[in-house]
Amino acid sequence: MSNEQIPTSPAKPALDPTRLGEAPASLLPLTGKMPEAERPEEDEPADYADTFYGQVGGHETFSKIIHVFYQGVAADPLLRAMYPEEDLGPAEQRMLMFIEQYWGGPRTYLEERGHPRLRMRHVPFAVTPEARDHWLAAMRKGVDAAGLSPMHEATLWDYLERAAHSLVNSA
Ligand code: HEM
Repeated sequence: MSNEQIPTSPAKPALDPTRLGEAPASLLPLTGKMPEAERPEEDEPADYADTFYGQVGGHETFSKIIHVFYQGVAADPLLRAMYPEEDLGPAEQRMLMFIEQYWGGPRTYLEERGHPRLRMRHVPFAVTPEARDHWLAAMRKGVDAAGLSPMHEATLWDYLERAAHSLVNSA
């Protein structure tokens, strides 16, 4: 799929590469849309029931997807060579925090890493079409391992595919 094929209808707006890391407003936790006075107290446990994150099983589900993905990265020489750290654990943790936040889960990524700025953060790496395809193949295994409902699976995969295509920065 080339960038030109990204759907542009209002139902599926094309991803704006500069806003790649921002969740659609409809997927954010309800608290994000509430006036300050009506929000739950800070010490109340967050309720993710009305977010995509909550609907697919929260932390357990995303940990599984990202863990299986990183097993794929570790086993793929092309991808493995791109990851600077010897220990893939910290990279796995960053990806997990990002994806959980994107789908309406805890905002830990923002607190620890700041704004995602995914395009900028990938500039040091030559993301070629070949690297993208390897990345997507590893992620496919992660998503398959989670056993999501067809609707959740399609929503998540659509995002991952479009995000991966828009992060290619090298021929
Ligand atoms: C297209 C193929 C891709 C390749 C080859 C690739 C490669 C990389 C590499 C080498 C890193 C550095 C690892 C580290 O954190 O130390 C990284 C970081 C990261 N990538 Fe990708 N990536 C790709 C696509 C994506 C996509 C589609 C997303 C999101 C949907 C994504 C999200 C992230 C995040 C959140 C980080 C950590 C950023 C940070 O906080 O420093 N990547 N990626």
